Amino acid sequence: MIRVAVIGAGHWGPNLIRNFHNRQQSEVRWVADLDQARLAQVRARFPDVQLTSQADQALRDPEVDAVVVSTPTSTHFPIAKAALEARKHVLVEKPIAANAEEARELAELSERAGRVLMVGHVFVYNAAVRKVREYITSGHLGRIYYVSMVRTNLGPIRVDVNAAWDLAAHDISIVNYWLGATPLTASAVGGTWINKGLEDAVFATLRFPKEVLVNLHVSWLNPRKSREVTVVGDQRMLTFDDMNLSEPLRIYDKQVTGDRTKPGFIDTFATFRASVRDGDITIPKVATGEPLKAECDHFLECIAKGERPLTGAKEGMDVVRALEAVQRSVRGAGREEKVE
Ligand SMILES: NC(=O)c1ccc[n+]([C@@H]2O[C@H](COP(=O)([O-])OP(=O)(O)OC[C@H]3O[C@@H](n4cnc5c(N)ncnc54)[C@H](O)[C@@H]3O)[C@@H](O)[C@H]2O)c1
Repeated sequence: MIRVAVIGAGHWGPNLIRNFHNRQQSEVRWVADLDQARLAQVRARFPDVQLTSQADQALRDPEVDAVVVSTPTSTHFPIAKAALEARKHVLVEKPIAANAEEARELAELSERAGRVLMVGHVFVYNAAVRKVREYITSGHLGRIYYVSMVRTNLGPIRVDVNAAWDLAAHDISIVNYWLGATPLTASAVGGTWINKGLEDAVFATLRFPKEVLVNLHVSWLNPRKSREVTVVGDQRMLTFDDMNLSEPLRIYDKQVTGDRTKPGFIDTFATFRASVRDGDITIPKVATGEPLKAECDHFLECIAKGERPLTGAKEGMDVVRALEAVQRSVRGAGREEKVE
């Protein structure tokens, strides 16, 4: 039985409490939040959990094995650091920290303490995302040309980080996982309208090894909630719509074929069409199940077996390094920046 303290019970925290509490392998001992109204809501739903406004009180409890950090990004580092120093296993929400330096320090601390440090890159535990990785790594799509990702909604508007840190953290974690690589450069522009100094929308292009381009459009200032991805390979193409719960994936048997009309002869519509294959569209079956539950189960399993998580300190740091390059580029009016 792994005893958990959840720090932060805002919008997301209750989902983590629900996934750790009264389970065969875990229970939630403490929930900490600075906001008494949030604690009252937790009490109503989970009456047997101890509550505190002082995270330290939960971190000091020797009965607590693991700490789950679901507070705003700017606070991830001090809370996760204190938890690791108290020799607790830590699951910290995305992004792992507010900069690469902090992420590195957390990684070192977890190594020294011999404790699991995992970041909540929840999409890596999403069955459709896993299936796409299989299609990419098995070569089903062929050589990958580019990936286009859109993540928009109206709100929630953060006050400590911009839309890239909040939303593109997901997309970068997904695409790093799919391509088994990290971006080399980033060029991005962003717009700041609501809160001074914090971009509400960011349009970024990441260059990956093997000439793969990844385009991201993230915004919390958009009338429509969309989570749409297109992956274009030289053999097949694919779309992933995370808002379509029953049929999130479509595989398009479409490609530009090798037997193209020689340049100079592509002068009519008919000859141009001959160079394109327009085959079937298939809808693969994707297992249902809550990705967050799979993420929480993985955290418990890593603790029990002493294994490294699929989304550990390195993966967390990789995302933060890319976000830093995006940030530098936005501030540099779109100049292409190396991911360091
Ligand atoms: N994986 C996902 O899909 C997903 C979705 C939403 C949010 N998140 C992440 O979860 C985290 C929380 O997001 P949210 O939407 O719940 O934010 P939120 O602002 O709604 O909630 C944060 C809560 O933390 C509390 N808090 C702040 N500092 C604290 C401290 N020092 N000690 C104790 N409590 C403190 C606040 O009072 C608030 O209730 C963020 O890191 C966010 O990126 C992840």
